[in-house]
Amino acid sequence: MKVLAFAASSSQHSINKSLVRHAAERLRAEFLPDVELEHLALEDLELPVYSVDREREGGVHPRARAFFDAIGSADALLISYAEHNGNYSAAFKNLFDWASRIDPRVFQGKPTVALSTSPGGRGGASALKLALAAAPRYGAEIVSSLSIPRFHDSFDREAGALRDAALAGKLGAALKRLADHLAPTRRQDAITPAFSAAEWDERYAQPFASYGAEPNDFVRAVAGRVPPGPVLVIAAGEGRDAVFFAERGHEVTAVDLSRVALDHAEALARERGVTLTTVAGDLADFDLGESRWAAIVSVWAHVPPALRRTVHAACARALQPGGVFILEIYAPAQLELPGAGGPSVVELLLDVDAARQELQGLELELCQETRRLVAEGQHHRGVSATTQVLGARPA
Ligand SMILES: Cc1cc2nc3c(=O)[nH]c(=O)nc-3n(C[C@H](O)[C@H](O)[C@H](O)COP(=O)(O)O)c2cc1C
Repeated sequence: MKVLAFAASSSQHSINKSLVRHAAERLRAEFLPDVELEHLALEDLELPVYSVDREREGGVHPRARAFFDAIGSADALLISYAEHNGNYSAAFKNLFDWASRIDPRVFQGKPTVALSTSPGGRGGASALKLALAAAPRYGAEIVSSLSIPRFHDSFDREAGALRDAALAGKLGAALKRLADHLAPTRRQDAITPAFSAAEWDERYAQPFASYGAEPNDFVRAVAGRVPPGPVLVIAAGEGRDAVFFAERGHEVTAVDLSRVALDHAEALARERGVTLTTVAGDLADFDLGESRWAAIVSVWAHVPPALRRTVHAACARALQPGGVFILEIYAPAQLELPGAGGPSVVELLLDVDAARQELQGLELELCQETRRLVAEGQHHRGVSATTQVLGARPA
């Protein structure tokens, strides 16, 4: 569940940015602990003033696409509108005009909390009114709205919070409405422990945006322990670890549910001058074989627990004697670090005791829980709780 938050202002010290950041943090702290927050800064998306001629010459500007895609990848929006001369800021209007050339429904049906603030007593009410009137035409489903007057009196910028209790209460109510609106989607997340192939395909639609193209840090750190021979990467995604091992001279097989992801993996391999064997399908249908692999690599495999146990049990047999198993998976403590990524259901997480239990056929050289900074694409960002395992099949 991701919420995209931005101020419709390109000012670096935007008061609307302060307000929307505060609103996003409150949404997570008080109503949606597992929400992933993405903050967009309009000053990073500045682009030439829209004109039909510019579009004809160069097509839709890539920054407008980035803006449109950021909205598309979110489950909900938090927007705070700056007011310039009774209207939206020109920076926002311009970005919006460009994005509307992709699809006039720029907001793509996303439930939205619309805010505004200004130093004056009307709190940007005119810009907010325009935004609310236009919302249905441009695909925004407004769930709640609030204008905050006299920003500099109402908001304590150092504390990053509203000091006016009545306004704080109103903002809380507006955010709760969004959380209530999103409740059915959250329940769905909770009872569906893993994504389907179609959902993974959708997540991987934009190449390497989700988890990046560079290998996982732990994989890189222990790669020297892999003996010569073929390597199997399960839940390989877009192939960042698979390509890394191929570049180190291994013959690599990459298995993943998502054909879209594996197409990107093959493209990455071509770009780096190596080859991969890719297998699109459920791990449940994949035969790991016997004494076959120099290494089996499993990074962030969000696999239902019964299947995970089966695969882990099969690893010792499937490795060559002396072959190694490399695992990094989110630990249950990750649930206390919302926003850093990973599954939101405990069943898909693994602590060191359960890892030891599931990997009994291997000699574990390393089995540890870490708190480490993960920075991989859009979906894995921040200090994270992970379980890392390096195990070997006895020679
Ligand atoms: C060109 C310009 C026009 C403005 N017009 C209005 C206005 O019509 N109503 C208003 O309440 N504030 C107006 N303001 C003041 C803005 O509300 C104030 O600059 C505010 O900080 C803008 O929001 P931001 O900091 O998020 O960019 C204007 C400011 C500028 C620079």
